Amino acid sequence: MCGIVGYVGPQDARDVVLEGLRRLEYRGYDSAGIAVVADGELSTAKKAGKLANLEKVLAERPLPAATVGIGHTRWATHGGPTDRNAHPHVSDDGTVAVIHNGIIENFAALRSELEADGVEFGSETDTEVAAHLLARAYAALPEAEGRLAEAMRVICRRLEGAFTLVATAVTEPDTLVAARRSSPLVVGVGDGEYFLGSDVAAFIGHTREARELGQDQVVEIDRSRGLTVTDFSGERAEPKAYTVDWDAAAAEKGGYDWFMLKEIAEQPQAIADTLLGRLGENGELVLDEVRLSDQELRDIDKIFVVACGTAFHAGLIAKYAIEHWTRIPVEVEVASEFRYRDPVLDRSTLVVVISQSGETMDTLMALRHARDQKARVLAICNANGSTIPRESDAVLYTHAGPEIAVASTKGFLTQVVACYLVGLFLAQVRGMKFEDEVAAIVEDLRRLPEAVAQVLTGMDQVRELGRTLADSDTILFLGRHVGFPVAMEGALKLKELAYIHAEGFAAGELKHGPIAVVDQGTPVVVIVPSPRSRESVHGKVVSNIQEVRARGARTIVIAEEGDEDVVPYADHLIRVPRTPTLMAPVVTTVPLQVLACEIADTRGYDVDQPRNLAKSVTVE
Ligand code: F6R
Repeated sequence: MCGIVGYVGPQDARDVVLEGLRRLEYRGYDSAGIAVVADGELSTAKKAGKLANLEKVLAERPLPAATVGIGHTRWATHGGPTDRNAHPHVSDDGTVAVIHNGIIENFAALRSELEADGVEFGSETDTEVAAHLLARAYAALPEAEGRLAEAMRVICRRLEGAFTLVATAVTEPDTLVAARRSSPLVVGVGDGEYFLGSDVAAFIGHTREARELGQDQVVEIDRSRGLTVTDFSGERAEPKAYTVDWDAAAAEKGGYDWFMLKEIAEQPQAIADTLLGRLGENGELVLDEVRLSDQELRDIDKIFVVACGTAFHAGLIAKYAIEHWTRIPVEVEVASEFRYRDPVLDRSTLVVVISQSGETMDTLMALRHARDQKARVLAICNANGSTIPRESDAVLYTHAGPEIAVASTKGFLTQVVACYLVGLFLAQVRGMKFEDEVAAIVEDLRRLPEAVAQVLTGMDQVRELGRTLADSDTILFLGRHVGFPVAMEGALKLKELAYIHAEGFAAGELKHGPIAVVDQGTPVVVIVPSPRSRESVHGKVVSNIQEVRARGARTIVIAEEGDEDVVPYADHLIRVPRTPTLMAPVVTTVPLQVLACEIADTRGYDVDQPRNLAKSVTVE
């Protein structure tokens, strides 16, 4: 949510910053802007809409070449997506330019104070207060090395809320200063050059060497003095160094029309990478990174899984698996509700937070609440060095590689697989009811990448079907057991990409109301459990297909190979390979991703950057 880029070094900052913005555009695309310091002047360009609009402006009126620059791509919070509200924001005296991600919660009070002091605001943003405050703090300090950084520390002590701020000053043409509180910021270190980014994608084309900043820290980057990190009071801090384990090619489309298609295709490899090194030879799980002692794991008497959106759906699937394998009660809740309803937590509660980006504010706040209540927190996360894993007691990285498309695909499947690992690991440590089955379950996990690869070979049929559904007003999704969260995920994908009304229901709930919306020709997608599933859930779902068909529905049935019971009732039949019941979501979700992508594409929408959305939602 908002992409931030900064550069200091010998290259032309305009090019480096624009390239960074291209890679971060998925974080927000309401407007974009750039500022450089050159020839004793601060020059900015900004434009509402996608980055292409800014590029057009820059082609007509280029900024001067510079060695220091900042850039921003916006997901609007305070103030609409207009040119005026686009970042960077320049102080009224023209001395500093600021870009910002997050929300400054006390901005109204600060704005009144500045207005009383005669400042005229040019935008409705909360960011602009930071620009004016910074200029005032800067002017009040004596001329000295590190003056901009000190001014940043002064204002950060006054700001409330969450923010990443990056600033440049006209009088310090070789310096960039940035600050972070509960919002992402990483530093890239090249050969005689430095980069700032909301995530490493911003600079991955230049360096894989990164520095992770802690909470409430200010970083100053100066061409001659290098990198200095302090806390908000000025105390020196050491940033954590790490090397990014993917390269620029991973952040490119690689011949696909959309990042989403590429990421769907990458799922077999992504799942294999999630499992890599974690399945021992003798059916044992090896999760060294779960830094909770065996005793702590044995003491757990309750688990909460907390997440948002698609990651929440992964949590719903986790409940079925973890409860079945461990017999520990599991509650699953969206983070924004969990945080504010006073959940019952204590030392023996394990809270599993799931987040692809590791920066989702709702999830972060839930995590902090859980830790305040003394619960243990285990994060399942994809983005190395992000805030959520850093603040958790333990972390299991999914290693899915960069996910650029706003709609999560490989992020989701690898979260589901990581949840299986957590469930089985708990069962292994605590001893489980199904002891003799563990080795077989581990073998099932090993086969998942191959199973997903097999599903992907049959997707032409799904694409063809998608094109015929592009004019639909409503599409319903039904499932039972683990198929229920898959139905919810299929509906979410369709809503967010194709802007078609869609809902995922527990198939058994249908007769309690939702069936009333089924009309002649209403498309209904049904996720059918394996005929080998327990307690004849399969038979019940087959009955549900007949019920909707009897009311005119056009049925799209996702069923396992060899399941002949569904054939008479399926207007369209999509086959997936035989997979154990609890792991079926890993294969049944894939056609739903492809379907949503194809429908959105047919309707002429931007699949990677759906309207009103952004990757990584860093506001509550
Ligand atoms: C939907 C989607 C979102 C995210 C949600 C949580 O396709 O991507 O619903 O799943 O915003 O994001 P993370 O996993 O980054 O915390």
